[in-house]
Parts: sequence; C-alpha cells; structure tokens
Amino acid sequence: MKSVVARAPSSTANLGPGFDVFGLALDAYYDEIQITKQGNEIVIESLDSVPIELEKNSAGLVVKEMSKKFKIKEGLLIKIKKGVPAGFGMGSSAASAAAAAVAFNALFDLDLDQNTLVEFAGIGERASAGSIHYDNVSASVLGGFVIVRTDPFDVIKIDPPKDLVLCVAIPKISVPKKKTEVSRGVLPQQVKLSDYVKNLANASAITAGFIKKDVELIGHSIKDIIVEPARKHLIPGFDKVKTNALQAGALGVTISGAGPSVISFTSKFADHKKICKAMEKGFASADIKCVTVICRPSKGAFVL
Ligand code: HSE
Repeated sequence: MKSVVARAPSSTANLGPGFDVFGLALDAYYDEIQITKQGNEIVIESLDSVPIELEKNSAGLVVKEMSKKFKIKEGLLIKIKKGVPAGFGMGSSAASAAAAAVAFNALFDLDLDQNTLVEFAGIGERASAGSIHYDNVSASVLGGFVIVRTDPFDVIKIDPPKDLVLCVAIPKISVPKKKTEVSRGVLPQQVKLSDYVKNLANASAITAGFIKKDVELIGHSIKDIIVEPARKHLIPGFDKVKTNALQAGALGVTISGAGPSVISFTSKFADHKKICKAMEKGFASADIKCVTVICRPSKGAFVL
C-alpha cells in the first residue's frame, strides 16, 4: 500500500464535571488525513490554514513520533483536509491527530490496539494544548462516549443512547493562538473537598446515564462547579446562553471542551431549532454572533 486516507470526527470534552476524563465524538465535522509514501522526508500539505511545521501540527507530530517509534525511514506526504473548526472547543487538533494515527497504523500494517492509537494521537495534542490530554483524541479514535484514565492508561468506551442530540453554539470571536493553554491557565490548582464531591457525583451520574441509555440522567448531570465557573469569563454572554438554552428545553448546558463553544445536551424530542435560537440570542446579548450546529454522537476514526 502506498497511500491511506482516514477520517476522524469532532468531539466535545469534559461534558461538565468530567474534566480531562470524558469525551464524546460528534458527527458535526470531520477531518481527513491522507498519508502517502513519498520522497525522503515528512512533509505536510494543506489548502486550509494549518501550521505546516511538523512539530506545530497535531497530525505532523503524531506521524513524526510514530515514524520514530517504528523506525520508519521513508519519506511521507501528509495531506490535511480540515473540517473541524480550529480553536473552538470542538476537538479540532484531536481529530487531525486521531486521523493521522489511524492512517499511519493502516499504511504500515501495524495492527495497533485502540489504547495505543489513543496514546499516539495524544502526543499530537501537545502541538496545540502545550500538554497532553486524551479526552478529545479518545473520542475521535474510538467514537461514542469515552472515559480516560492515565494511570494505568486505559480508555473505556460506552455507546451513547440513540436519542441523545447535541446543540452546539460556536461564537464568532477571535480566540488566542494557544487557546487551550490559556484556558487551562485560569483553572484552580486546588479545589474544595465539597466541590469535588459534587462534581464526582455528577460525573458518576453521567457515566450511569450512558450505561443506562438515559438521556435525561445524562443531561441533568451536566453540572460542573469547578472548571466552568473558572472559565466562563472567557466566553462573553455565557450565562445568558446557558439560561436561554435551559429555558428552551435543553437538559444540561456547559462549555464544550476548553471553549468558547457552548453545548446543550437534549433528547431527540426537544425543539432543537428553538434551543439553537435561544443560544444565538444569548450570544447576541453580548453582541456576538454564533454558528449553531445540531448533531449526534459519532462513530470513531476510520480508513476510507
Ligand atoms: N479537557 C481539555 C480542557 C479539553 O478542558 O482543557 C481541551 O480540548
């Protein structure tokens, strides 16, 4: 085989109380990575505005590290087609990293298991987040709802209920270049025990909701009193967006990953257009326009 194309979905991380632990793949957007054996070095090509230096690009970093690990000396051309908007908390760098890991695995017949693919894809997050975290890449690689723990490393996947629908509002604001690093920088280093207990209870209830396929339980447990309060000042109009969405019938609302997108958890019976409109109005109250997307959980990365 000379060339492989893989596609990986967007994702939302944290789902409220599951900071750095929970991820959910979303069928809103997909990135596509083609890796071709060619030339003597590894180069990136893209029509989209992505960094083409290997170390600064999440897909480039993954391919570089995998080539080193598996002692592959041949040159590779990495073609990147971005579908996931970058910098908005939709797992953009993770989607490219996941597609790169899956494409590389197929191109060189490595037959890697999913944990290993996630570990390689996680290396790509360093390119944008400055640190490795695995919630978005796990969702992008495996699909569905994922729980990640790092010690020992393990990714647990649960198939989401079929009637879970998400409404995402992506504000049109300029985001800092190292957005994830910035939004991690505002987080407290220590938390109150009583806050930890509340978040743990909600996180556990979310997991139970996915196991029981109970959309209401999931939605009503999307409550985070540690990370969301520390970050919401970075999202103008956040409180209004959230209140409006809840009033319009959303079950739970929180920041998508490191933001600035806001995500509503709803059942398929909700009025999704109404919820989107309500979120738009919330952002409009802060003079901000947004794009809204109605989406569902996605399957994981795959070779085309
Ligand atoms: N868990 C990460 C964070 C996701 O919230 O910083 C970043 O995409």
